[in-house]
Formats: sequence, C-alpha cells, structure tokens
Amino acid sequence: MCGIVGYAGREESVPILLDGLYKLEYRGYDSAGVAVCRDGKLRLAKTKGYVRELDRIVDGGRLMPGSVGLGHTRWATHGRPTDSNAHPHISHGGKIAVVHNGIIENYAKLREYLTGKGFEFNSETDTEVAVNLIQHYYNKTGEILRAVASAARRMEGSYALGILCEDCPDMLIATRRESPLVLGAGDGGNYLASDVAALIKYTRDVYNLEDGEIAVLSESGVKVYNGDLEETAITLERVDWNISAAEKGGYEHFMIKEIMEQPEAFRKTVSPRVAEGRVTLDELGVSDEYIRNVSKIYIVGCGTAHYVGVAAKYNFEKYAKIPAEAIVASEFRYSGPIIDERTLVICVSQSGATADTIAAMREAKRRGARVLSIVNVVGSVIARESDWALYTWAGPEICVASTKAYSTQLAVTYLLTLYFADKRGAISPEEYESVVREISLLPGKLARVLKDKETVQYLASIYFNNEDVFFIGRNIDYALSLEGSLKLKEISYIHSDAYAAGELKHGAIALVSDGTLVVTVATYGALLEKIVSNAEEVRSRGARVLSVTTQSGAGRVEHVSDSVITVPDTHDMLLPSLGVLPLQMFAYYMALMRGCPIDKPRNLAKSVTVE
Ligand code: F6R
Repeated sequence: MCGIVGYAGREESVPILLDGLYKLEYRGYDSAGVAVCRDGKLRLAKTKGYVRELDRIVDGGRLMPGSVGLGHTRWATHGRPTDSNAHPHISHGGKIAVVHNGIIENYAKLREYLTGKGFEFNSETDTEVAVNLIQHYYNKTGEILRAVASAARRMEGSYALGILCEDCPDMLIATRRESPLVLGAGDGGNYLASDVAALIKYTRDVYNLEDGEIAVLSESGVKVYNGDLEETAITLERVDWNISAAEKGGYEHFMIKEIMEQPEAFRKTVSPRVAEGRVTLDELGVSDEYIRNVSKIYIVGCGTAHYVGVAAKYNFEKYAKIPAEAIVASEFRYSGPIIDERTLVICVSQSGATADTIAAMREAKRRGARVLSIVNVVGSVIARESDWALYTWAGPEICVASTKAYSTQLAVTYLLTLYFADKRGAISPEEYESVVREISLLPGKLARVLKDKETVQYLASIYFNNEDVFFIGRNIDYALSLEGSLKLKEISYIHSDAYAAGELKHGAIALVSDGTLVVTVATYGALLEKIVSNAEEVRSRGARVLSVTTQSGAGRVEHVSDSVITVPDTHDMLLPSLGVLPLQMFAYYMALMRGCPIDKPRNLAKSVTVE
C-alpha cells in the first residue's frame, strides 16, 4: 500500500527519493509524487500512474533541485487515483507539504471544522485534512513542532506523516500512529521511510518511530520527541538484511526469486531453534504451566497468512491435542470470540502491519487472551504488541504474492506444534524424534522439488488457457488447496476456487464440465483413496485432473489424473511445505504465459494497512 520516503542531507534529494519509491513499488500503488524545500520555497511534482512517469516529469531530479525532500506512492482509499489526489498535499496558503499513509477516521468532521475556519480543499483525500490541520495550528502558534503535536492529538485513526515546512527549510518532520515509519541515520544525510527496503541502500542504522513520537531529521542528525515535545533518547538498531535481498539478482521476477529462496529461508527460520534433536523455543519465555493449561488456540491472519493457520489448525489438534480454529482476522474481530486467560491467539503476519490482524490482536488482548505472533518484519506493530513473538527469518519479501513468508510461517507452526505437544505430553518420543529428523531433511527436499521447475512450466504451458480452475484437497491438503487457488487467481487473474474435496458434490460440482481444470492436492496418505474417488467424480464429468502427490502416492493417483506432479515423502505434519512449492510455481508459470505483471498484480498491495 502507500509508501513514504524522505531525505535531509548534503546530496540532491529527488534522485534518492525516486530510488526509494522504486524500492517501494512492490507494495502496490496507483500514483506517486515528490516535494522539495529549497531557498525557502516548496516545490511539488506528482502524477497518477507509475514512479517511472514521475521520474520522467522531474527528469530524474534535475528539474527539482533541493537537499530536503519527501516522496510518496499512494494506494487510493479516500478519492480516486488522480493527479490531484496524489501526495504530497500542500496546505491552504502553501506553506506546508505532507505525505501520509493510513486513514484519518475523523477526517469528515475535521474537514468541516477547517472549512468553517476558511480553509479550502483541492482533493478528496483525508491527507489534505491533515496538512491543513497542521497549518491551522501553525497559524496559531508559529511553531511547527507544536503545530504537528496539536494536530496529531486531534486526528483519529492511523497515520504515518512526513512533513515539510517552508519556514524551516532544513528540517524534515515525521510522526506516526499505528502506521509504521522508520528513520535511517547516515553519513551526511538522514532518511525516512515507511519500509526499510527504501533506505537500506544508504544506511543500516535505523530507528522504528514509536506511536506518538515526532522526529526531526536534518543534515546534521535525527532528533526524536514525545507528544509533549520532550526530547527522547533513541538507540539505533542495525538491520542485517543484505541489499541483494531487495533486488532481483538475475531472476525475471521477485516471485520466482523468492520461491527459489525457500530452502534457505526455511533453514534460517528453523536451525537456530532446533538443537540436539529438540525444539528449543526458550526465546519465547512461555512457561510450561501456561502451555499445559492452554484450552483453545485461535490462529488469526489474512490471505496467505490465514491459510498457514488452516494448516496449523490440523497439526495443533492432531499432535498437541489442543482444540484449534483458524479464522480470518477481519471476521475474528467482530465475531465475539469466546476467550479467557487459557485462550492463546496466534497472529500470523509477514508484514506485522496488516490492519485487520492488528485489530484482531488488540481485540484478543482486550478480551483477556495471550497473543503469540509469527512475524517477518522485525519491530513491526504486531511483533511489538503481542505477548510473545517468533520471527520468521525470510528476509524481505518484495513480490506482492507471498511465497517464502508462507513457508517460513509454516515452519514456525511446526516448531510450535512440537514444542506444545511435547510440554503437554501429547506426542510419543518416537513420533517427536521422527518429525524433528524430517525437519532437518526438509531444506534438501524443498530444493529437490524446486529443481524440477521445468515439469511445472511444461504443465502450465498446457493449461494456461483455462479460465476456471478448481483446487480440491482433504485435511492439510485442503489448507494447501486454499493457498494454491489464491496464488493462481491473484497473479494470473484466472478464476479459481478451492474446496474441501468432500464438499464438491454438495454444490460446486455443478460447475465442472468438459475441460474444466481440477487440481487435486493429494499428498496426505491417510486420505488418498478418498481424494482419488473425488478425482474420478470430476473426471467422469469431463474435467482434466492435475494431481500433486508424493512419490509414494503417485501410483495410486496416476490412473485418475491427466498429469501428475510428485514431491518427496515426509512426515505428515510437514507435507504442506513440500506440496505448496509446485502450486506456487504453477501459479507463477501460468501468469508468465498469460503476460501478467507478476510482482505487482492489479488492485493488490503488499502491506494492507487499512481495514
Ligand atoms: C497473498 C498475500 C496476502 C497476504 C495478506 C496478509 O499472496 O500475500 O494474502 O498474505 O495480505 O499479509 P501479512 O502476512 O503481511 O499480514
């Protein structure tokens, strides 16, 4: 979704801002803009469309000199994607410019208030309300920081703001609530961004601005104040992501690069947490007594993160013997979940910034649950606000469609399942050992599946003209079907649905006719015969069946399939990790053959920071 970059330093700012905006393109956006302050004057350039259009308009920055500036990519919420709704927005009178991520919920009331004070508006956005509110307080006090603090107190909702003021041409100001902002301290210049990917090329020393703090960046340094404008001491953190992780490194798309990174990402996530055949999650600090007393687990997330939860639900119930429910975050919040102190809510999120998941987490805490989060972005809101956080060490995931985040989130759920199962005495030592052994073999097995990408590419070349694709599976294969179907539809725009295979004949089979493609996910050996029957049912109605199964299952599904993809055998708990790889590659190659913009599918955003 929206992205913010800012720079105050010795260099020309616009080339740095454009570079940062290109890095943030993966988040999804529909317009872009920059503002600079030079010789006491603000200058703006903004446009509907892509950063490259903005780049052309400002001639790479040559037409907009200035060493203090702000940039933005906007994903429309209030008002259509137009030039006038693009950020930065400038205040009535033209003294202050603002870029904004998030949603100001009381913007209509504030707009009415400001209109009554004589302010005029040129856009449909809530951001123009923010900039005019700051201007309003600036008119009263003549002090820009006081004006920002006063405006912040009146705004409800979520916001990350970057602010320039003509009267303070050397300063870049920032503040936030519930929407992330990171400050970067460099040599001769300082940086602001909504996402570390935009500034990692320039500095690795960062500070995650806290809710309610106000930062002032200039060439000489970074100062941070609390809401009462008292200066607070900050400690910079060192980011250890390497730059190549945020670049394509020879691959045509981030998606395929990230698919290929999965064995390594899985290893990085798991290996520090398994020693001498035991899962060690002591980093969590959860007491054994708490684990023994947990009576219910809710696994909460959105999209792909939710589908991790669906797989984990089966595993928690089967191996740790804890009742578990996977529920989408936007439903959880309003469903009145029955929660007490023995309820554990697990929030799964790559970004740690998804608005619905944040809201669900807060609701869970309000109702008295303990929250454990599985998060990729270090220091993100979800990681910070939950009782316990386990990081997935996937590195930055740039492609909008999630792949390595899914794999590493799954990996963490395996470790949690084993840890809980062991502490509760719910798993036999033999089974525990065999899962841990298989976990250590998984990176090698994942790499073997990925090596066979030509087979998947060939199958995509047969099926890419299908306009309807169904995915069916049972148990953990149902969880996989949901993810396979989401991946396909979001990047190839092919209509696709996933069903628990047993449900098909209760309605959806009416849609199956000559040539319909049905992807049968059949890795779970215990229910293989059942899914084979379902494959027969659709085939006898004219469907073409593509089966994903294990090496040991292949012989049993071949006779009902037009095509078969096999993955190595492993312990049942871990099957989703192997089964998802062909589904991800299938979606990728189908989209490639249809000429889709794979890394940035239409209408989608990487980080969904609005409800
Ligand atoms: C799909 C996808 C989304 C995200 C979802 C949650 O490929 O990427 O469905 O999984 O928006 O995002 P996070 O994990 O950041 O909370």
